Amino acid sequence: MTTTVRRDPLAFLGTELDALRQQGLYRHLRILEGEQRATTTFDHRKVVNLSSNNYLGLTTHPRLRQAALEATRQFGVGSGSVRTIAGTMEIHMELERRLAEFKNTEAVVVFQSGFAANAGTVAAVLSKDDVVISDELNHASIIDGCRLSKAAIKVFPHKDANAARQVLKGLPASQRKLLITDGVFSMDGDVGAVPALCNLAEEFGCIMMVDDAHASGVFGKNGRGTIDHFNMHGRVDIQVGTLSKAIGALGGYVAGSRTLIDFLYHRARPFLFSTSHPPAVAAACIAALDVLMEEPAIIDRLWENTRFFKSGLQALGFNTGLSESPITPVIAGEGALAMKLSDRLFEEGVFAQGIAYPTVARDKARVRTIVTAAHTRDELQFALDVFAKVGRELGIV
Ligand SMILES: Cc1ncc(COP(=O)(O)O)c(C=O)c1O
Repeated sequence: MTTTVRRDPLAFLGTELDALRQQGLYRHLRILEGEQRATTTFDHRKVVNLSSNNYLGLTTHPRLRQAALEATRQFGVGSGSVRTIAGTMEIHMELERRLAEFKNTEAVVVFQSGFAANAGTVAAVLSKDDVVISDELNHASIIDGCRLSKAAIKVFPHKDANAARQVLKGLPASQRKLLITDGVFSMDGDVGAVPALCNLAEEFGCIMMVDDAHASGVFGKNGRGTIDHFNMHGRVDIQVGTLSKAIGALGGYVAGSRTLIDFLYHRARPFLFSTSHPPAVAAACIAALDVLMEEPAIIDRLWENTRFFKSGLQALGFNTGLSESPITPVIAGEGALAMKLSDRLFEEGVFAQGIAYPTVARDKARVRTIVTAAHTRDELQFALDVFAKVGRELGIV
């Protein structure tokens, strides 16, 4: 009898991880012990938290918490099915109606996440004979949606509408085209070329799509996003938003025409093949919309904090790139240096996640900071003092 020693067919993954360790890019998941707050405890250390997307502090807002608790008592913890079978509850429909009103569109469909909304929508709307014209820094979920659709992918340099125009000029007039940009770019915090791209979409007959994941709750009246900020209502065919960031809970959505939403109800694969939100999540999101409408001062506070912190970093001499939003990168250069900066900040009581290649370009590694409405001036000043100390220590400023 021969015994065969089974070789681990996944051993190559270990080799790849070793390479990350050697480059100083291996990351442990930081564990949050408690609530997602402006000052909180990760990995047993109390830190000022500059790493969450909890822009308005809504993850712990009493109105959202109460709404989630009540929905759980009334409707249980799960929906029990995908939306298209038995998992469409009245509360899901109410959330979609409220979001459509908020976004000023005919209809909205809610997905399990912003990622699913982007990937599921692009893949459903386009097919192999079509073409997508996409900003080079668009989010991974857009890129994956493009790949899944099998459409041709034409990438234009970041925010360069003239370059996008050249691409469009070279395409057959009869070909279906999707022009797509993030509203706010997640790694740089700058705002997409929405008005210029809307003009192009009209000139060349493109479907216009904006991913407003980081803009909803942040830009525009009551946080309606970049389309409202630029007054582009009616000119963007597909608006994506997330419920996972400023809204404080979980999910994503697409806002657009009734026809678009009906089509996605029938063809968007994450909608068709993945269970819908627990009622508590839908209820919390509805309560978040109430907060945006009734407590808009919370958004003003976010922007006051943003201005204070961004100008503080710049005064210290840090390279904050082109940020125009509460996302402020502190660009260090090489990946290992950015990770060292992040680690030293953490030891000194500030959590700003290091981000390196392949998420950003190899020479643009950074720590990414995000202030929220919930940060106090003292917390932000403390963070600036720590940045000054560690930045000098590492020769960054
Ligand atoms: C620009 C952008 N779009 C979409 C998403 C996905 O949103 P969600 O976290 O709800 O899946 C993100 C989140 O990282 C994002 O930054």
